[in-house]
Amino acid sequence: MAWLFAHGDAEVDDGVIDAPLRRRRAGEPLQYIRGRCDFYGREFLVDDRVLIPRPETEILVEQAIARVPHGARVVDVGTGSGCIAVTLAIERPDLRVLGVDISVAALALAKRNRDRLGARVAFVASDLLAAVKHADFIVSNPPYIPAADVETLQTEVRDHEPRNALTPGPLGTEVIDRLLASGIPCILEVGYGQAAQLQVDEVIPDLAGIPRVVVSSARHGRK
Ligand SMILES: C[S@@+](CC[C@H](N)C(=O)[O-])C[C@H]1O[C@@H](n2cnc3c(N)ncnc32)[C@H](O)[C@@H]1O
Repeated sequence: MAWLFAHGDAEVDDGVIDAPLRRRRAGEPLQYIRGRCDFYGREFLVDDRVLIPRPETEILVEQAIARVPHGARVVDVGTGSGCIAVTLAIERPDLRVLGVDISVAALALAKRNRDRLGARVAFVASDLLAAVKHADFIVSNPPYIPAADVETLQTEVRDHEPRNALTPGPLGTEVIDRLLASGIPCILEVGYGQAAQLQVDEVIPDLAGIPRVVVSSARHGRK
């Protein structure tokens, strides 16, 4: 697309413009059409195998960079595009970072992002922590939308982003509850209204003032 703006006089085959326009008209997010997305100052490849990284998640990354103890073994649960794991590994080279996801298709893209950006991250397919031998710290932007609310989302999200990246079940907090119950210190992104139901040490708001990231030092859970 940038090429088209820079070469305004050039003749262009209709197909070059038609195909992306048709996809956009069908509600496909621009990031999937471009195949890329910016996150924490770096470019990540994205497609319909992974959630498009959101700006709110940069708050989680900022907190993790500042708080995870030196040398810790960190697991990014539900790594998707790998945006959290890759960024953390680059910004904090002292950490040993593992990204896990239940979606093997998502992990294939996460590995491409790792290789393109030269990050030191391992990726493993796992249902939450099932395949993880040791974790000192968890970071996660888990699926947190209650299942019934998915139908109310805008078409770009509802019809194009992976369903298991959006909702873990009827409550929305199913994955969050399991991660907090692990007793491992964690920094988690949470959905609207969820922080108040959780027993955590600290809650950090996003730029709109909505409680968005929770910090738990250990054995906590639901209020
Ligand atoms: C909200 S997306 C987050 C993706 C990425 N970390 C980000 O912040 O953009 C949640 C991710 O969790 C994964 N996921 C869902 N259920 C899971 C489970 N039980 N175990 C591991 N990963 C899971 C999904 O495949 C998806 O990639």
